[in-house]
Amino acid sequence: MFVEEVETAGSQPTPRVGPFMISSSHEVARMMNSNVMTVVIDVQKGVDVGQVQSPRPFNRREFDAHLLEKATARDIERAKRCIADTKPHIREILLEARIKGAFAARAATTAVEKIMVSAMDNAGALIAVAKLKERDETTFLHSLAVSALMIAFGRSLGHAEDDVHLLGIGGLVHDLGKMVLPTAILTKSGKLTADEMNVVRHHPQRGFELVSRLNNPPQQVLDICLYHHEKFDGSGYPRGIQGTEIPYVARLAAICDVYEALTTVRPYKRAWSQAEAINMMMNSPGHFDTNLLSAFVSKMVINGTLH
Ligand SMILES: [Fe+2]
Repeated sequence: MFVEEVETAGSQPTPRVGPFMISSSHEVARMMNSNVMTVVIDVQKGVDVGQVQSPRPFNRREFDAHLLEKATARDIERAKRCIADTKPHIREILLEARIKGAFAARAATTAVEKIMVSAMDNAGALIAVAKLKERDETTFLHSLAVSALMIAFGRSLGHAEDDVHLLGIGGLVHDLGKMVLPTAILTKSGKLTADEMNVVRHHPQRGFELVSRLNNPPQQVLDICLYHHEKFDGSGYPRGIQGTEIPYVARLAAICDVYEALTTVRPYKRAWSQAEAINMMMNSPGHFDTNLLSAFVSKMVINGTLH
């Protein structure tokens, strides 16, 4: 909807707000929860009340055509090869955690080295190809894509390659703790109960414990596992720490993790566009480190790294 003007509640005169376009149900919900009383909309520039836009069904041909607009066929082919090459290693990491409660560090290093090479060529193509997830590929491709995002973001911030490598490992294994949660919860298709949600909220601690069993676990990887669900205002979990108490690498991971989850394309579900995802993240006060989020938007989105 195209909002021309809003009227807010309260005794103060209403400051003029607008015009602006609202394009997601999240923005509508935010407005409903604010002190906005009424809005004036322009039906020439947007939809009318009751004119609900139905989610567009997934179209594989459109997805492929969009990819080809943004990357060359060669880059897409390379990205697909990287995904195929890393798949056995990432599977090994996930299985090792699930079956033995161990962290397959060598497999992680091999996978991240491959992702680092591919991300050097065209990180955007790799992340774009990994967006489309079939049901059984979600965990594997999310891990790979968050790793690629961490690598590309870390490089864009000027970090040394050794540090970028650790960011890549952290991105790859940030959710490893989920592998040791009960299968019934992990595979449940419906909404989780409050108790089940509490169990899921243990995954940062469980991931931290898995990686801790290494001889010399890298601190950055431990921090990413344990703190990637902390929020800048202290409302996250598991510790509820805030601001710069949250390790820098975990603040990076929170941005990459949420961005990847929001922009994931599933054949059975409408995906968020990049603009919607960024808009939602920019309008989530207290969640992210705003300086880092601004850097992510300028160095990864505006400059065209991500599509
Ligand atoms: Fe997580």
